[in-house]
Amino acid sequence: MKYTITGATGHLGREVVKALSQLTEIKNIRLAVRTPQKAADFAGAGYEVVHSDYYDIPSMVEAFTGTDVLIYIPSITYKVGKRIEEFENSLAAMKAAGVKDLVDVSFMAEQANNPFQMSGYYAYLPARLASSHLRYAVVKNSLYADPLVPYLSELIARGNVIYPVGDQAMSFISRKDSGEAIANVAVRPYLRNKGQSYLLTQEQNYNMIELSQIMSQVTGEKIGYQPVSLEEFADIYRAEGDGDELASMYKAAAMGLMDEVTSDFRHITGHAPQNMADYLKENYQA
Ligand SMILES: NC(=O)c1ccc[n+]([C@@H]2O[C@H](COP(=O)([O-])OP(=O)(O)OC[C@H]3O[C@@H](n4cnc5c(N)ncnc54)[C@H](OP(=O)(O)O)[C@@H]3O)[C@@H](O)[C@H]2O)c1
Repeated sequence: MKYTITGATGHLGREVVKALSQLTEIKNIRLAVRTPQKAADFAGAGYEVVHSDYYDIPSMVEAFTGTDVLIYIPSITYKVGKRIEEFENSLAAMKAAGVKDLVDVSFMAEQANNPFQMSGYYAYLPARLASSHLRYAVVKNSLYADPLVPYLSELIARGNVIYPVGDQAMSFISRKDSGEAIANVAVRPYLRNKGQSYLLTQEQNYNMIELSQIMSQVTGEKIGYQPVSLEEFADIYRAEGDGDELASMYKAAAMGLMDEVTSDFRHITGHAPQNMADYLKENYQA
């Protein structure tokens, strides 16, 4: 059995590799990566590492040949057309390489009225896959909990969470838990053979008062909730390169479109996902 993982050098990809290594032998895992130098540690540990670029179909055909299950982790580009081009190229390569089984990583923002800049890609995926002749499952992530940890020092300095989402709640999952669920879907055919769609979330969502209270408990610092406007939020983070994209996502959250909670993680893995307080406690260092 050969499992091939794209985007394996990324934040999520590394968690998927780690989790999959608990479920199958390393010799069954192939890492299809754009920058093999970034996977030198994996190669050193005995993983098969091959070059594969979403804009170079022949490289993907070579990388995917002999694959039983492909785990597709998209790039992080914020251009819908580019993401679709990357996926269409990958579908063409899968066909040429004879890949029949796919675990496709997606995101919760797929509703037709979702204003997140990337939602066009997430909405296109399920319909596109339905016409693909692949056996597949779509595994959607909710918001990663991980970026909250390095963000805490800024929130302490501000004294407040500032997400422009009003009184709406948001759902989260850690990349580690997401990696575990994705790996389990990959190794269990009955979880991925019928076009299943999963949404990975913690067992509850959090409104921003609840989130800021957990953050206060974990850090021992007073963190409240004072939402800024969507425009202010975009202005504050524009210099970091993704202020407008993030603001569009929080606009969706303010519409109540990012708060769904499911038991899919437990269904897939047989145990509960880590809750926010435990996740932050485990990973925050003052
Ligand atoms: N749920 C959330 O809250 C949330 C938050 C942020 C992102 N996401 C999404 O989650 C996914 C994974 O995120 P991440 O944090 O793991 O991102 P990441 O660390 O940037 O990893 C992206 C991976 O994609 C690879 N890649 C980029 N362009 C490629 C190309 N042309 N051909 C082949 N591989 C390419 C990168 O390879 P290199 O190392 O060679 O660049 C890297 O391994 C992304 O789709 C992202 O949009 C979700």
